[in-house]
Amino acid sequence: MVFETVGVVGLGTMGAGIAEVFARAGIRVVGVEADQEALDRGLGHLEASTGRALEKGRLSAGEREEILSRVTLTTSRDDLRDADLVVEAIPEVMEYKVALFTDLDRICKPSAVLATNTSSLQVTALAAATGRPGRVVGMHFFNPAPVMGLVEVVGTVVTEPGVVTSVSDLAVRLGKTPVAVGDRAGFVVNRLLLPYLNHAVTLLDHGVAARDDIDNAMRLGVGLPMGPFSLLDLIGLDTSYEIMGVLFEESRSERHVPSPLLRSYVAAGWLGRKSGRGFYGESAAESTPEKAAASTVRVEGSQELAATLAAAGFKDSAEPDVVLRVGEAALGERVVQVRVTGKVAELSGSVLTSRQAVLCARDLLRVAGYTPVPCRRSVIDALLYAHLNDAVHMYSSGYASIADIDAAMRLGCGYPQGPFELMESIGLAKVRDGLRALYAEHLSPSFAPAPLLDQLVTAGLDAFPRA
Ligand code: 3HC
Repeated sequence: MVFETVGVVGLGTMGAGIAEVFARAGIRVVGVEADQEALDRGLGHLEASTGRALEKGRLSAGEREEILSRVTLTTSRDDLRDADLVVEAIPEVMEYKVALFTDLDRICKPSAVLATNTSSLQVTALAAATGRPGRVVGMHFFNPAPVMGLVEVVGTVVTEPGVVTSVSDLAVRLGKTPVAVGDRAGFVVNRLLLPYLNHAVTLLDHGVAARDDIDNAMRLGVGLPMGPFSLLDLIGLDTSYEIMGVLFEESRSERHVPSPLLRSYVAAGWLGRKSGRGFYGESAAESTPEKAAASTVRVEGSQELAATLAAAGFKDSAEPDVVLRVGEAALGERVVQVRVTGKVAELSGSVLTSRQAVLCARDLLRVAGYTPVPCRRSVIDALLYAHLNDAVHMYSSGYASIADIDAAMRLGCGYPQGPFELMESIGLAKVRDGLRALYAEHLSPSFAPAPLLDQLVTAGLDAFPRA
């Protein structure tokens, strides 16, 4: 299959990004929008994105011109008649998409492949709406499309042999890494990513920690490129809520119940970057560096932390202002439990701990160079371990290989390591034991260690089986 002219229908953020990716790879693009106003907005996205690359010196003015000249913009779908492939990126409404696919099927030549960039709808249902179900696939890009290195290529039970391979080869030509998967709600990335993001919203809703603290914990503690709330704002809260709904519809799992807080934000019209406000959006107040209110501190359970605080000028005393306790919990008015992950220090008080002690702990940890994350219990454990556990369940279900899941999360979401690589770095036993502790506390199936993880640890293994 030769793809020389490609149509992109819908030039919102994703569609325009996808058009740019094709044009950059030397492919002619016909970009279609419903009306002139939407077309102008689409052109604006293309110009802004390539303009930014020009500013950063990643494109020359000539290269930018060439890229833009490969894109023809039109409001007429009939202009897609010569396209070898059409990628659809219109809003996630099944009726619109079915109507579009019926239309494309009529307009496009019989050999053309029709692809959807849907993040949540069933590709098979779109295929069935056409007279060429064997040539309909998912081609799922990640936001921002010009940057993220993954394309999920979704084949269905009716896809003709060779189509998935040809579209995957095209993804390679675009400089992306394809991961070929079957048609299951959320595919690989959204099925793993969205429940984790939704879980972060639940923690916020339950007052476990504040928005910025949760974002800091996952970005600075785990090393993810964005915290869950920044990422929700990027993806769009409406899109995220819809994906959760589709996951729940298919799995009926507790893990996939959409957060009521997310629903409220969507109902309020706070959709993230696209509407100017989501979890972020109000101008953040300038934070003035706080001075530590504590001058004496005792650290119990970590010589490393004690040394760092001593080096930062804090002294021990018989009656310290605050006791930082690492490891086994202890109770006391001035005792604050601390867990250090990278440069993040999660801290929580017990029922006996005074608010003053928690504030002292926060301020002095900040002065000592940590990012303090006040929380009722560890945000990192709850969010990360459940997320990793989902990846083990996905692999065990036979949907995707360990290599594909790792590659998908690295390239689709910019993770420094895939979930399996991450579990191996942390230690399988630590992840399993962390899950067991969370399960004992919450009795939620999300935290019950996946049988494969449990068995590997029981067998004394510290790596997952790879083919
Ligand atoms: N368009 C084009 N290029 C962009 C861009 C955009 N919107 N945003 C960033 N870039 C480019 C920059 O020009 C820069 O390129 P350079 O390094 O060659 O100069 C590069 O990307 C890095 O950008 P910045 O330095 O400005 O910003 P960061 O280093 O903070 O990176 C990020 C930004 C790439 C978005 C990074 O934070 C990241 O990887 N975040 C995770 C995003 C993610 O998870 N996406 C997937 C969401 S799920 C999804 O899309 C599926 C859907 O179905 C819901």
